[in-house]
Amino acid sequence: MKHIYQKGTDAAAPVLVLFHGTGGTERDLLPLASVISPTSSVLSVRGNVLENGMPRFFRRLAEGIFDEEDLIFRTKEVYDFLDQAAVEHGFDRQNVVAVGYSNGANIAGSLLFHYPDALRGAILHHPMVPRRGVQLPELSGTLIFIGAGKNDPICSPQETEELTALLGEAGAAVHVHWEQAGHQLTRSEVDAAAAWYKTNF
Ligand code: MLT
Repeated sequence: MKHIYQKGTDAAAPVLVLFHGTGGTERDLLPLASVISPTSSVLSVRGNVLENGMPRFFRRLAEGIFDEEDLIFRTKEVYDFLDQAAVEHGFDRQNVVAVGYSNGANIAGSLLFHYPDALRGAILHHPMVPRRGVQLPELSGTLIFIGAGKNDPICSPQETEELTALLGEAGAAVHVHWEQAGHQLTRSEVDAAAAWYKTNF
């Protein structure tokens, strides 16, 4: 997959894997990595799907309605890519924390829904429930930050609560941060994610 890898100064720090929102690129979330963990290595990935020219991580049928077959296929593609990237760039595959926004948070969420060992932790900015009616893997020890907006028209507060419950039932430790905002990623949400990261990693 098209990506940027930036080697950090602290080899023991988690590797941050960045997943942009719809229409973004692998450059978009690089500033977030500097705020969250300036010494970490960073792997920033571009989604392989194009929707009217806009990169995404999986296909959707309409706003909020995911192409489930493609979601499963693309989730495995990203999972396999992380395995390959760890070998290619020489980082610890077990020490990966995802940072995703919107569609990028949804592919990170889907990694958590399908694989017990995909991520050590995840910062999910405005995620949705990637799939329903499936058994999640055992996620004990997985640390998750969810940033959500009380007025988000794409990810409703109810959906955020549903996702939090599903991940919690699978054993993950989930922290939810609410903004009085919509779907946008605010500076205060990024700062809250950075503060959460610093107390957990
Ligand atoms: C998605 O398709 O993943 C969500 O609707 C968020 C987005 O608009 O990208």
